[in-house]
Amino acid sequence: MNYKVDYSTQSRTNPVFFTAKTAICLMARAGIPDATEIVHRLELEDNQPLQSMADSDTVLGNAIVVEAKYRTMCRLIEDCGYRVCVDLPCGYTPKALHLTQKDFRFVGLDLPIVIQEIAPIIRSLANRSELTTFCEVDATNYESLEKALRDIDEPLCITTEGMMIYFTENEVNTVIANVRNLLEVHGGYWITPDPEVKLQFIETFRSVFGESSLDKLTTTGNAAIKQSGGTNLSNSFILDAADVIGSRKTAESLLAKHGLKAERVNLAEHMPELSVYSQLTSEQILRFKEAMRRCNYWIIALDATRKLKAIQKQRPFEMSYTIENGILRLTLRGRIDSISAPKILTAWESEKVVNVIDGVEIDCSALEYISSAGVRVLSDIHGSCKRGVEFLNVNPSVAEILVGPFVGPQQKKSPN
Ligand SMILES: C[S@@+](CC[C@H](N)C(=O)[O-])C[C@H]1O[C@@H](n2cnc3c(N)ncnc32)[C@H](O)[C@@H]1O
Repeated sequence: MNYKVDYSTQSRTNPVFFTAKTAICLMARAGIPDATEIVHRLELEDNQPLQSMADSDTVLGNAIVVEAKYRTMCRLIEDCGYRVCVDLPCGYTPKALHLTQKDFRFVGLDLPIVIQEIAPIIRSLANRSELTTFCEVDATNYESLEKALRDIDEPLCITTEGMMIYFTENEVNTVIANVRNLLEVHGGYWITPDPEVKLQFIETFRSVFGESSLDKLTTTGNAAIKQSGGTNLSNSFILDAADVIGSRKTAESLLAKHGLKAERVNLAEHMPELSVYSQLTSEQILRFKEAMRRCNYWIIALDATRKLKAIQKQRPFEMSYTIENGILRLTLRGRIDSISAPKILTAWESEKVVNVIDGVEIDCSALEYISSAGVRVLSDIHGSCKRGVEFLNVNPSVAEILVGPFVGPQQKKSPN
């Protein structure tokens, strides 16, 4: 029952990876060095990821945000005092090329589908490929992160750009707890523009496009929702433009709950000159630079006054099943996340070809965690068989996640 997970299954389980393809196309549009070559190697010259952004100004607005984030993050990493950058998620950006030229060690972490594509491309382009490492992880899965960083005995500069907004409340808590644990083990900082990313978009579009910015922001938001498989682009870590002060307090309390504290650094003060300025008027550039004074990036560190319990080890994912009288009886153990969920989908699609399956019963007694990638796969299975999916022996924390998507998963006890 060991099926090979293919590209299509991975992409349907984790559609969010596609947002990174959009980002690299925007980087090429902005004129970031090496981005055009990466776009070429990914065979994205037709700019297909940008098709959902109706007009060229919306693409330009997005390119400005992406370049400002990329170049400012590179500068903050260079200035942070540590020599190992752990880019979680690394996407398809040329950051590894830029940093290794400056003698940094670069560890690129992302979902398997991204790493399988980007690692060979960067290795073939890098002059100092011995300074790069790429590992397949799920940010919600601590074991995968720990394994990726096991050989590093220096403090880390962990960077997170463009990921936190796609998480549910439950996932964002898990990821923050994981980062805190990495900082406890290795030392270092966590740098991210993500909490204020919505403000950065609004300020950028308003300053560059004035009156017509609202439509373009709506198109941008809709494209991000569609490309990420319907996430709602909101959780307690992401500041809300309608209540900046209140939502900032919420994000800071969330960090405090995990034993972390943030220093906010002003974007305008750290942003280098951008190549995309060649596509703007001098008035637009002035207004844009002024607007960036109202945005901040967050440098997050352990709060030495707070000691928390170490993360509990979770059992690894395991799956077994039998098929009897048209019912697939599936036992799932451990955690279902972006790494393990494609295995379930692969098994389901392979068995469906050779068996008539009317319904699925899932024994969840040893299931410890399920992320939105897992929920997506189980929802697909639910929708593609006559009697749907029935859950048995669900523990309360998993039930809480399943309840919404499955409108009250049946919590039957199994007969034995
Ligand atoms: C908008 S892209 C940003 C990528 C890159 N940092 C950039 O600036 O272009 C979002 C990235 O988050 C990654 N991602 C989403 N969920 C993840 C998870 N649970 N674990 C690791 N990476 C994840 C996606 O694969 C994708 O590469």
